[in-house]
Amino acid sequence: MQARAQLPLNSQTSKTAGKLLAWYDVNARRLPWRIAPGKSGADPYKVWLSEVMLQQTTVAAVGPYFEKFTARWPTVSDLAAADDADVMAAWAGLGYYARARNLLACARAVAAMGGTFPDTEAALRALPGLGEYTAAAVAAIAFGRRAVVVDANVERVVARLFAIDEPLPAGRPAIRTAAAMITPDARAGDFAQAMMDLGATICTSRAPRCMLCPLREGCRAQAEGSPERLPVKAAKKPKPTRQGRAYWIERDGKVLLVQRPGRGMLGGMRALPDDGWSARGDGAKALGGQWLPGGVVRHSFTHFDLELQLMLCTSPELDSLPPGEWWPVDGIEAAGLPTVFAKAARLAVAERKT
Ligand code: ADE
Repeated sequence: MQARAQLPLNSQTSKTAGKLLAWYDVNARRLPWRIAPGKSGADPYKVWLSEVMLQQTTVAAVGPYFEKFTARWPTVSDLAAADDADVMAAWAGLGYYARARNLLACARAVAAMGGTFPDTEAALRALPGLGEYTAAAVAAIAFGRRAVVVDANVERVVARLFAIDEPLPAGRPAIRTAAAMITPDARAGDFAQAMMDLGATICTSRAPRCMLCPLREGCRAQAEGSPERLPVKAAKKPKPTRQGRAYWIERDGKVLLVQRPGRGMLGGMRALPDDGWSARGDGAKALGGQWLPGGVVRHSFTHFDLELQLMLCTSPELDSLPPGEWWPVDGIEAAGLPTVFAKAARLAVAERKT
């Protein structure tokens, strides 16, 4: 399908940034990591931290984590000096744990450079864990560099403005080209965040509020009458369901927690011992002791759904247990377990009371 973004700049396109920035001056969301519209001097550390947290995660979910991290580690050098385990535990619940490992690697790289973030998109891109989106977002928001910042919100706004109907992901290059056409040289950070806010509050996936949109006049999808159909997304494969077991092994008011291997799902996180989510029925037997089946915890990951059967044991054979730490059951909420294991732990605590 021909991407109409290839059309030459027209007068609407060239006015887009001005109209959007005027809207942002009045309607910018007040978010903890932001400075006011039209101002410069954002703290690159806060911009970077928020952008890493916001990948795949909502603004509402990120807020408390951002506050917690910046209170505990106010500068990138403070974060660089933190213990890995403390950072992983503070990240628990935000998901996509590779981000937390990369966060630390990046903080340490910046600390090694004297604690100052590089200020160009290319140099930012060279830091650990900074992909195309994050490098562009930090360059624009923290340093006012012109950069083409395209996240899912921006993708939706641009696909509609230019009526790009090539399904995603194949349509992404056309969307990027179109986004570049409307990205201004000045106020690059405000422009990027204005596009995000427009996508989050007006140009929403379902029931967009076109009557309130500052870009309504130049929007092709609006003119064509059904903006909500864009962007078109390629059909998703159905998610498989995997089954596994998690082991609640308790002794003297303490439960055995392990540290997951550094790479792979929930890598480096504190967790309950499990069977590798392979529903290996003999797992509990191999650990020895008397076992009772508990409830089932359901959790949805990006590429599969997990049904985790909880198995409970209060008479473990100590020499057969995996290496780990004995954690007080009544302080389990402070263990920094990723959500699936936090759910399993809550269920176990509820079940041992009954
Ligand atoms: N999503 C990703 N980055 C954001 C930002 N800076 N403001 C609002 N939403 C965002």
